[in-house]
Amino acid sequence: MLVYMENEILDIFNNGTWYHSVNFKNVKSKGTFDYTDLVYNLNFPTMKDLSVLDVGCSDGFFSKFFLEELNAKKVTGVDFNLYDGSVAFEVLNSNEEEYVEKYNSQNDYENLKFSYETLGLMTSNKFELLKKVFNLNMDYQNGSIYDLTEFKKHDVTFCGSLLEHLRDPITAIEQLYFSTEKFSIIDISNSLNGIYNIFNRPLSKYTGAGGNFYHHSEKAISLMMEAVGFKNVKLLKRYKIKIEKYGYKIPHAVIIGFK
Ligand SMILES: C[S@@+](CC[C@H](N)C(=O)[O-])C[C@H]1O[C@@H](n2cnc3c(N)ncnc32)[C@H](O)[C@@H]1O
Repeated sequence: MLVYMENEILDIFNNGTWYHSVNFKNVKSKGTFDYTDLVYNLNFPTMKDLSVLDVGCSDGFFSKFFLEELNAKKVTGVDFNLYDGSVAFEVLNSNEEEYVEKYNSQNDYENLKFSYETLGLMTSNKFELLKKVFNLNMDYQNGSIYDLTEFKKHDVTFCGSLLEHLRDPITAIEQLYFSTEKFSIIDISNSLNGIYNIFNRPLSKYTGAGGNFYHHSEKAISLMMEAVGFKNVKLLKRYKIKIEKYGYKIPHAVIIGFK
């Protein structure tokens, strides 16, 4: 962990825009989602000495967890972000303007420029920040889940809360399959999960252009994983997480599939 430049780090943790809450010393950044305790209950298997491809890695919260707590050897984080290094979803031409405005307003680089630059960072990409502050063996790459061919195969692939934002989840899961040596873990958020799981049916519901395209049931994602070739597909965990700003909780499912 970086012990010097602590004031600059604290400035970004206290005043930056964060997708995930992350602890630094006795300060916790105010993320949209706080997984800091919950992440220990998601039943992730050990990743000891394994290489991991974290697709849609955002600020690297999960990459950091895989390295520090699950003993992964190395993580490559891939994200596709046209705007500012925080959160962007696949947008349509019809709503691009709205998204550029929304995500540019979340770019804290200009406000906290002095702190970022003192740390040697030229963007507000929090993945790069966490790598530096916690001295982590992880690398950020720009890329899209629709084409992972440029990344070599990894023992483990992880894709958290991304499939529901994509117009084509099956191509994305197939790309994960081709990039996986041992197992892949998919976390989906699904505000209709409760209802769908009563019937255990393979349902995908269209929810509107951009942002979220679909809500998928666990069964739908599990069948898609099997369709592209994953074996022994099973549920690791169902959980709910609060959107800190609004206070309500969103159901999620974590699913694993093996090669
Ligand atoms: C909802 S966030 C999830 C972040 C984190 N993986 C998690 O589980 O909390 C989705 C992330 O996927 C990224 N993303 C959007 N479209 C993508 C694409 N086509 N390929 C890779 N990443 C993408 C977004 O920029 C964002 O960082």
